Amino acid sequence: MLGKRFRVVITTQIHEEGIRLLEREAEIFFANKPLNLLTSKDFIEVGKDADAIILVTNVEKFTREVIENLPKLRVVARHGVGYDNVDVKAASERGIYVTTAPVLDETVADQAFALLLCLARNICKGHNYVMSKEWKVRDPYKFIGIDVWGKTVGIIGLGRIGSRIAERAQGFKMRVLYYDILKKTELESQLGIEYRLLSELLNESDFIFVASPLTDKTRGMISYDEFALMKHSALLINVARGSIINHDALVKALSEKRIAGAGLDVYDIEPAPLDDPLLSLDNVILTPHLASNTIECRKRMAVAAVEEVLRVLHGENPRYAVNPEINLVPNPK
Ligand code: 8YV
Repeated sequence: MLGKRFRVVITTQIHEEGIRLLEREAEIFFANKPLNLLTSKDFIEVGKDADAIILVTNVEKFTREVIENLPKLRVVARHGVGYDNVDVKAASERGIYVTTAPVLDETVADQAFALLLCLARNICKGHNYVMSKEWKVRDPYKFIGIDVWGKTVGIIGLGRIGSRIAERAQGFKMRVLYYDILKKTELESQLGIEYRLLSELLNESDFIFVASPLTDKTRGMISYDEFALMKHSALLINVARGSIINHDALVKALSEKRIAGAGLDVYDIEPAPLDDPLLSLDNVILTPHLASNTIECRKRMAVAAVEEVLRVLHGENPRYAVNPEINLVPNPK
């Protein structure tokens, strides 16, 4: 029997549909370590003969050092949309594609709303109360929340996920504002939403969703000055990247009740350290970066990531390259 043509490293197990597709043509290797502990040395060791690598999460740091030491590598595929953990410049310089799997926007938008609803309606607190068997008296003024429907919502970053959040907000009869580095006039009228400067959005919104990518421009873009512009009653939801919000400013704003609460799925360090002050606050809902974690979404992500790898290894242009400027195959006329 002929050996398989390609060698592909996957940092951890992915949905079996993706594996099935890949194993027809490739020998698969897994990085045998918790993802947050993978070092450059580990990558260089496991990837030394790899044609492709699939980075399953955002915590695996794919540095210039790694990229320059994997001689056969042709594609780094993210099983996800964020690529802030990859040195794209170093990859482009070596003619290596960096691809994404942009098939999670609806699923992440669901989670963004789940966080908002839990926070505004005290769902987790109520659940813990019933489970702890403390519910002895029927008290209609305990765990009093605030209405979600009809409020003003501000979305920071009108990409795929931000747009899906906007659609959901319309279903809740909300007024929807957005801020993006680019004013997206067509999308804006399509979604029936209004552009605001960041300062205006922070000032006017009851609920603020962070849905932008982490870049040099967005890192730390919400700091104490930005919290100072928000309503005291504001709820902040982050399903993008923790480092878009300055962590100390976030802890301070929440502890001082400068804003009413936050629903967070992402952190500047993941897993969040056990002594992170966020873990002792009573006005937060914290989830362990699970916004895209549904069975359907994981299947779409695995298949999309593997398809990108196979396109490149077959000599085709990938569909979701973040560095398409290195495209080698001329597009058909
Ligand atoms: C994924 C993410 O859960 O798409 C991303 O960049 O941050 C997440 O939604 C992560 O990539 C795990 O696969």
